[in-house]
Amino acid sequence: MTDLKELPNFKVVDASEDAVREGGDVLRAGGLVAFPTETVYGLGADATNDQAVATIFAIKERPTFNPLIVHVKDELQAAELVDFNDTAQKLAHTFWPGALTLVMKRKDGGPLSLAATAGLDTVAVRVPAHPVAQALLQEAGVPIAAPSANKSGYVSPTQAIHVLMQFKDGQGLNLIIDGGACPVGVESTIIDVTGDAPVLLRPGGVAVEDIETVVGPVQLNHGDDITAPGQLKSHYAPSIPIRINVQPEDRVKGESLITFGPDMPRRAAINLSKSGDLKEAAANLFTMLRALDMPGIRGIAVVPIPNEGLGRAINDRLERAAAPKGGETTDGPPKAHDPIGSIEI
Ligand code: TXA
Ligand code: MG
Repeated sequence: MTDLKELPNFKVVDASEDAVREGGDVLRAGGLVAFPTETVYGLGADATNDQAVATIFAIKERPTFNPLIVHVKDELQAAELVDFNDTAQKLAHTFWPGALTLVMKRKDGGPLSLAATAGLDTVAVRVPAHPVAQALLQEAGVPIAAPSANKSGYVSPTQAIHVLMQFKDGQGLNLIIDGGACPVGVESTIIDVTGDAPVLLRPGGVAVEDIETVVGPVQLNHGDDITAPGQLKSHYAPSIPIRINVQPEDRVKGESLITFGPDMPRRAAINLSKSGDLKEAAANLFTMLRALDMPGIRGIAVVPIPNEGLGRAINDRLERAAAPKGGETTDGPPKAHDPIGSIEI
């Protein structure tokens, strides 16, 4: 095992067997590894190591009351950490590995760091499908706590370069494994299965409609109690204002337009999916928002996006981006030149 003091200071490596082996060593030694999943890049640490988990909260500047998702290689490993009920089992069988996170009861006496779950008696667990994430979980041999690899309050990274831009000189991150662009492009769907009926805590990469075909109606989270603190509407004001549900003709001067579907204006506009494919739109969303992070762009207007399938996740993220300032967490204000610092999910 690598000794903690031998951990690499900070480097970016292309995904390979060697990279994954090194990633596993770093994780087991208590270091931090950013790695690709099919949804977004994760900022990973050994979920059983309090100190490693504390480093995630510190470098992400994340409030410690906001729990992390624990990634495991398969259902068997998940069953060491949480208790599965019927609903959980059905959903795990159907959607794992994949972009679905299940909130379940923490197993008594399990090995997880309490800090990872912010002291809750539930745990958000996911089995990622991305081959690099899978290989890293195999290699590490420990569950990996990993929030999205962005600073708190910023848009999630879908490419290694986005991670690098957020943690330029490492800041405690030891290794970034570059596995290319994340194919799903929005975070996982989070379902709380601890109650009588499944509850949607966050729309994401698996469509709620697909989940309902397996377990019946899913309740929408009304967000009044803070079971998932990250679900709070953003309190950040984007440094570039974002308006949603805007018809192309209602764009105002100086605003860039994000469109969707065929027959859309092309001047000062980017199209999430010309063919009107919501999956493609989700995969493009964060990268396109970043592309508009430019001096000279005074605002972003987004056309209405159908609120079905992955469109729900897209609308959820856009609503957060457009949410007005004035929330209740203790995070600092967004830094300059990050108009998309308003999407914390
Ligand atoms: O796709 C994803 O889910 C990515 C990749 C890296 O797996 N991860 C991700 O993690 O988006 P993060 O930390 O950015 O978002 C996790 C969300 C937060 O809103 C957190 O509040 C919620 O999951 N969460 C974690 N544990 C929870 C729990 N026990 N109960 C309710 N919500 C929980
Ligand atoms: Mg996040």
